[in-house]
Amino acid sequence: MTNSFMVISLPRTGSTNDVLKELAATGAPEGTVVIADEQTAGRGRFDRRWLAPPGTCLLLSILFRPSLPASQVSHLTMLTALAATDAIETLTGLKVALKWPNDLIVPAATGWRKLAGMLTETSFAGQEVTWAVVGIGINVNVPPAAVTELAADATSILAETGQETDRAALLQHLLAGVERRYARLRAGETPCAEWASRLATLGQRVQVDASGERYSGTAEAVDEDGALLLRTDDGHLRRLLAGDVTLLRPL
Ligand code: BTN
Repeated sequence: MTNSFMVISLPRTGSTNDVLKELAATGAPEGTVVIADEQTAGRGRFDRRWLAPPGTCLLLSILFRPSLPASQVSHLTMLTALAATDAIETLTGLKVALKWPNDLIVPAATGWRKLAGMLTETSFAGQEVTWAVVGIGINVNVPPAAVTELAADATSILAETGQETDRAALLQHLLAGVERRYARLRAGETPCAEWASRLATLGQRVQVDASGERYSGTAEAVDEDGALLLRTDDGHLRRLLAGDVTLLRPL
């Protein structure tokens, strides 16, 4: 990515990931960003819907054309998550943590509430990544009364801080952070250790729904590919690449 982004700003679209995937397939350069004020078909992981009241959130997708093996495409998601966390903390003072694999959360008395989600979609040539679209949706100025309509565990920066946040300023901070961190990735530095240090999931007793199976155990660690190493209650160590995590009470 060469020191600037080309930002395509849309008042309304289906999904910014879908728009950017089409642009990627027809040769759009690395650093192309699609952002929308409103999505009519916003998507989350596992083809779930991603809801956001028009004009209140940051809904954007970033195109990378990295020199990375397929197994390390998660490094792009990690660096974007870290850049988003920094941007939110710097601008709002809100303390944000990460929840494996792709969520930004705010720790709460009952566990955590979800502030943002990420969806990375990739095209491969053999074992190499040809492009990756990293989509992120941040609940910024969603009023407290509306957050539960998004999802039972959702929150927003406004609901947490009582203050409206300038979405344009948040976007600037986020993209500047992505650019800095991507330069470091290209120089050979991996974001894994910093990402792992911000994962609220580690050390917790959790339930993970993955590939139609349900596991419970302790989230012991993550590896260099971003996979979760879960010590299941029967003592096995399982390596999980994707899944949904729920916090459990300690045994
Ligand atoms: C998740 O938590 O399941 C991931 C949510 C990702 C939502 C963002 S909003 C911008 C981009 N466009 C989409 O359709 N999805 C992502």
